[in-house]
Amino acid sequence: MNKKKAVGNAIGKIILIGEHSVVYGEPALAIPFSGVHMETIITSSDTETMLDCFEYSGLLYAAPENYFGLTSLIKKVVEDLNKDLINFDITINSSIPVERGMGSSAAVAAATVRALYNYFDEDLDDETLSNYVNFSEKIVHGNPSGIDTAIVVYEKPLYYIKNKTLEHNDFDLDAYLLVADTGELGMTKFAVSKVRELYDSNDEAKQRVAQLGVLVNNVREYLNKGDTKCLALAMNEAQTHLDYLGVSNDTIDHLVSTAQDNGALAAKLTGGGLGGCVIVLCASKADAEKVASELKAKGAKQTWTMNMKKGDHHAR
Ligand code: MEV
Repeated sequence: MNKKKAVGNAIGKIILIGEHSVVYGEPALAIPFSGVHMETIITSSDTETMLDCFEYSGLLYAAPENYFGLTSLIKKVVEDLNKDLINFDITINSSIPVERGMGSSAAVAAATVRALYNYFDEDLDDETLSNYVNFSEKIVHGNPSGIDTAIVVYEKPLYYIKNKTLEHNDFDLDAYLLVADTGELGMTKFAVSKVRELYDSNDEAKQRVAQLGVLVNNVREYLNKGDTKCLALAMNEAQTHLDYLGVSNDTIDHLVSTAQDNGALAAKLTGGGLGGCVIVLCASKADAEKVASELKAKGAKQTWTMNMKKGDHHAR
């Protein structure tokens, strides 16, 4: 008998500016990142549901605790669709490095919900998908702002304010964005709680968060005007605020200064920090390639380059 098969896909995300402050109701700007990708494949089987995902391959029910966001989501979707959690297997293929600020947890959730809906021949709307991704994001990250969910669901550059605003914010810049993986696992949940502790006890931290919000609104203008120079100044300033908030670390600082010393216009962490990825703004492709090779020489594990011209935000 032919096996039934269904597929769901999702891409990664990059926060250009506004990570962490977005948790406190400030705006953020994020870009879908097609350089990395998640694919969930569901195939019919005659046995209990098996999960083959990242480091784990075995019974879905027996998946380790760190898969709880994903396994809870799968159970919930199947239950909500009035189906039985049996007789299909789930395989997840990913090129999104885990815990690197690229939205891997939101992407695995989105790809899997899309695959389950395809498998059971159900129509899926954006709101339902967002609710499901948020459900698993809350398990994985605690109290997320929802920006990762919004990006993986809509796959458009977004201006985002938690529970308030979600606007398509395209841009057209004569510049390249380089993404460099420190190779270190970020710690989003821990980083968010670290910032929360500082924020609750320190007025300067509150001011830094507010200043990040102002920078994001300025950057929105710069993007609309194609002003790369001012964007660069704002990104560099954001990095100093994130550093103050305690989410940079030596590895990030090292890559940021290496980029700045080698002709980059700006460099900052992206996502939760404490590891993860650094983004670097460069004036040209040649500059981005030079900075990429310097960063790799200084320990970056992988780099991607994205053209910031309108209609060409494809990462390579
Ligand atoms: C994580 O990608 C971004 C953070 O701002 C957390 C959040 O928005 O939930 C650090």
